[in-house]
Amino acid sequence: MQTKLVTLISALTVVFSSLAMAADDDPNLMLIKARQGDMEIRGFSAGPLFGMAKGDMPYDAEKATKLANNLKLLLQLDMGSAWAADTGNDKYPGKTEALPEIWSTYPKIADAGKEYATAVNELADVAGNGLDALRSKIGGLGDACKGCHDDFREKE
Ligand code: HEC
Repeated sequence: MQTKLVTLISALTVVFSSLAMAADDDPNLMLIKARQGDMEIRGFSAGPLFGMAKGDMPYDAEKATKLANNLKLLLQLDMGSAWAADTGNDKYPGKTEALPEIWSTYPKIADAGKEYATAVNELADVAGNGLDALRSKIGGLGDACKGCHDDFREKE
């Protein structure tokens, strides 16, 4: 009995570790991480801008300009290949929150990306011009992030 159990456990260990190896070798995991990294920097940069606009932290013109420019700089990256087909959460559950609708409704996401780019550029133009100026464009940014997440990102 004991021997059987030990054999079973070591057999399972082999199965799990070979699954893990296959996953680690999968180049799609690297591109998923890359696009998530892009999103993390968006969050890192946009977070304080939302905070200033809401009055949760003091407005700082220099900081607002730099953070909005971070978002603008990210627009320059060509991240297209990080969104390769068949890398949605149907194929990579637990690894990505990207919905298959990104590909099945293409080019809807590209339109969402263009709206986002417009919002970023408009915000970056005025972010350093005072709190009212920041507030006048922050809503457009929030809508652009949320609009795309609503349609194309797994709900938490
Ligand atoms: C055009 C669509 C789109 C726009 C615009 C967009 N996102 Fe995302 N975002 C996504 C998708 C899709 C994912 C899921 C990516 C994945 O898990 O592979 C995501 C994931 C994220 C994540 C989680 C990243 C992780 O580590 O899993 C954060 C944070 C994020 N977005 C922040 C933002 C912020 C902030 C903005 C606006 C400044 C924004 N996003 C704009 C589509 C978008």
